[in-house]
Amino acid sequence: MIRVSAARARILYPVRIETGLLRRVGPLLRAARAPRDVLVVTDRTVLRFHGAVFLASLRRAGFRPRVIALPPGERSKTLARVRALCERWTAWGVDRATPVLALGGGVVSDVAGFAAAAYTRGLDWYAVPTTVLAQADAAIGGKVGVNLPGGKNLLGAFHHPRAVFGDPSTLATLSPRAFRSGLAEIVKIGVIRKPSILDDLERLAGGDLARPGRPRHPPRAQLRPHGGARARGVAGIRADPPWRGRLDRDGCRAATQRARGGASPSPGARG
Ligand SMILES: NC(=O)c1ccc[n+]([C@@H]2O[C@H](COP(=O)([O-])OP(=O)(O)OC[C@H]3O[C@@H](n4cnc5c(N)ncnc54)[C@H](O)[C@@H]3O)[C@@H](O)[C@H]2O)c1
Repeated sequence: MIRVSAARARILYPVRIETGLLRRVGPLLRAARAPRDVLVVTDRTVLRFHGAVFLASLRRAGFRPRVIALPPGERSKTLARVRALCERWTAWGVDRATPVLALGGGVVSDVAGFAAAAYTRGLDWYAVPTTVLAQADAAIGGKVGVNLPGGKNLLGAFHHPRAVFGDPSTLATLSPRAFRSGLAEIVKIGVIRKPSILDDLERLAGGDLARPGRPRHPPRAQLRPHGGARARGVAGIRADPPWRGRLDRDGCRAATQRARGGASPSPGARG
């Protein structure tokens, strides 16, 4: 676990990335003294793959979750979605004490975090990232927001989560595309700021577990935010992440080698 701190703002919150955490979210929230009524925001795909484990953990710990599942993907990152969320919460009589739990990728954490920032001028929220990109970047750092017709992320706020709980085993169900786009972000940070990340990726891609026939998701695996990272979460990679076996298959080694060869990072939109 690392603690994220933001200079000048006196903000400090834990970022835990551990295999099996999804099953322990309920007790962790109870330890954080979260109120019993909680608002879960997720997307339909994530709900299908991981909703049951997540909601069971909450209910076992005595929470009463109310769930809204967005259509998956970037098309949900709109002001209309934020408004719809807030109107549903109003209809449910949600007050300022009720926390939001964002279970999903960067789209879910951006939308749910922004709705949490705006509703009654600020609800507490917790991020439970389920993509590589969200565990390494989007769920950490407090940037939340939506797109406008004129451009990406044009409407937003800084609203830090109370805590981030990421479970790398959720990455096993990611599509190759979503998996690769998360890795690309990590490679980008490696190129821009921390070349040792490229070494980590190459080492993992070349390791034993990349060979066919070996188990793909070893139990002790994890991706964790880098110990040195501050307000912005920069991914560091620990031995045996569950997705280690996918690194070769999904072209990570080629990507890091291209990056080392001097290719500039793609000009994709900033998170
Ligand atoms: N706020 C920030 O600091 C920040 C930083 C970087 C990126 N972003 C934003 O993040 C967004 C992209 O995030 P993303 O790549 O996580 O995309 P995403 O949230 O759209 O997820 C990608 C796809 O994977 C599916 N998915 C998510 N978790 C899954 C799982 N465990 N198993 C199976 N399917 C799963 C989703 O349903 C979706 O279809 C962009 O909108 C970008 O602007 C924000």
